[in-house]
Amino acid sequence: MIRKITTLGGYIREYQESVENPKLFWTHQAEAFYWRKKWDKVLDWNFEEPSVKWFLNGKLNITENIFERNMFLRKDQPAIIWEPNNPEEEGITLTYEELFKKVNQFANALQKMGIEKGDRVVIYMPMIPELAIAMLACARIGAIHSIVFAGFSAKSLVERINDAQAKMVITSDEGYRGNKTIQIKAIVDESLTDCPSVENVVVVERTGGAVDMKAGRDIWWHDAIQDMPEENEAAEMDSEDMLFILYTSGSTGKPKGIVHTTGGYMVYSAYTFKNVFQYSDNDMFFCTADIGWITGHSYIIYGPLLCGAKTLMFEGIPTFPDEGRLWEIVDKYQVNQLYTAPTALRSLMTYGEEPLDNKSLRSLKVLGTVGEPINEEAWHWYHDHIGKGNCPIVDTWWQTETGGISISPLAGIIPTKPSFATLPIPGIQPVVLDNEGKELSGRNVEGNLCIKFPWPGMLRTIYGDHERCKNVYFSKFKGYYFTGDGVKRDEDGYYRLLGRVDDVIVVSGHNLGTAEIENAINEHPLVHESAVVGYPHEIKGQGIYAFVVCSELSTGGEEGIRNSVIKGVSKIISPIAKPDRVQIVSGLPKTRSGKIMRRILRKIAENNYSDLGDISTMLDPDLVDEIIKGRIG
Ligand code: PRX
Repeated sequence: MIRKITTLGGYIREYQESVENPKLFWTHQAEAFYWRKKWDKVLDWNFEEPSVKWFLNGKLNITENIFERNMFLRKDQPAIIWEPNNPEEEGITLTYEELFKKVNQFANALQKMGIEKGDRVVIYMPMIPELAIAMLACARIGAIHSIVFAGFSAKSLVERINDAQAKMVITSDEGYRGNKTIQIKAIVDESLTDCPSVENVVVVERTGGAVDMKAGRDIWWHDAIQDMPEENEAAEMDSEDMLFILYTSGSTGKPKGIVHTTGGYMVYSAYTFKNVFQYSDNDMFFCTADIGWITGHSYIIYGPLLCGAKTLMFEGIPTFPDEGRLWEIVDKYQVNQLYTAPTALRSLMTYGEEPLDNKSLRSLKVLGTVGEPINEEAWHWYHDHIGKGNCPIVDTWWQTETGGISISPLAGIIPTKPSFATLPIPGIQPVVLDNEGKELSGRNVEGNLCIKFPWPGMLRTIYGDHERCKNVYFSKFKGYYFTGDGVKRDEDGYYRLLGRVDDVIVVSGHNLGTAEIENAINEHPLVHESAVVGYPHEIKGQGIYAFVVCSELSTGGEEGIRNSVIKGVSKIISPIAKPDRVQIVSGLPKTRSGKIMRRILRKIAENNYSDLGDISTMLDPDLVDEIIKGRIG
């Protein structure tokens, strides 16, 4: 059994133990799992190369820890409870045994199609049970899954498939999202003209809509599993064998394939799930994220299923068929822990309390948030109207790279404070560094958030580019993992996240690199150059503000360019990366050496330009007045 901390004293003791003797601490946690062969060394690490290895030479399979390990107690207990987009359609409940059989069946199908241990499989799918089955089947046979959020464009998909050199893509005919139908297979088809590594595409029939099936390449899911046995011998994995790659945006254009390995990620996702949410047997856990993001990986699938939990998977969106949908689901399934994003809360708040009429919400015990800072107003609304004042809120800070929650209250154990992620999870040693890399110890300090000791769930590398991993995370502050976030440690020793300190903006909880958006804008034939910055946005947390220099205006004038720039970004990256504001300018403020002065543009976008600081290095200071005059918002 994974240990659960139950008191504040217990947390303090366990945290202390995790710092004083991390190897022993994580040995205790790892012993809760089933290892075919126990590790012979707990940890080997240095942050210079960087090289981090946990549970060395341990042999295991993560799905054996989900299924075989849980089967005796939970054979007939629901594992995944699936709620469709349309509430009129019937949901699906898969018990541990049923899910196990489906995973095995598809694992056998994958093997029959030639997928072997170490092969990369891209999954581009809506939130349907087959998505969970596909990812677990990959893990069963040792194939490396790389799930791409199905809202990404064909071009983004191409980039990820090619970077991972994926041999297979698993997808669906179409997907439902609110009252829209998304042409998913068509996007895959568009991508695959540029992806020579892909040999097969497996297609789940979700809507029954017409799709092209390419002979010799494409196969229906239902055909692939036909006659496949419901048993499959799990592949023996080394603790440090890759489990998955998940792409995240960086401050340069190209997405980074974050690599997580088997043993450490397993221990960390399960430990954090159980402790942060204080999950108890038979609770119903509901995380509203998409499995295409790390939150879905760790807290819809791996963490909950490793703990033998009941995990709810929702295909739709919070506002369909009406704004009360999430609350209706909470009541329908008697959800005990709800985990969602501040953006969703801010958007639901705008509808007032009416959607809460006739909703009980009394089953709720714990409320969680993730992905971005939660402002006090949203925190109080969540606390008062959803939690009825009785549910602790866990504001969980973490990243794709950390694999699991890293700074957060443990529900009901660590006293909360609105907009503070509070204290580190045992095993996490956060430090605040000034820009010169000096550790700022004590209380009431502000600076760069770094972590000075490895933890089992941390990334191991960037797929195919270890040098980039070193440069992005381990070079700016030697000997530390650099998160890219600013942080304040207050008088209670509590951590409050202050936002990114690099060129990444967090929009509705999604990381977007400004360079990636600029590259997309610059593909517009009339755009000469552009600069993108974030600004405070009431609902999304941060909005996207683009300053665009055009060689000439098209026939549609400024408005025409604006619209086509927005459409272009949507098509090239995804609708989530669409600029909210596009200002056409005659030039960008630059230093004499030609560097764009983003600091100035950020201040203008934020409507906070009374003091622009030192602009003496600027090439053309007159531009600033012009840009301020044309400011949007
Ligand atoms: O800036 C932080 C913000 O989201 C970033 C990580 O994004 P991603 O890798 O997409 O993972 C999101 C889900 C774990 C962080 O560097 N962030 C995440 N959680 C919080 C947060 N900012 C403030 N408070 C949080 N609770």
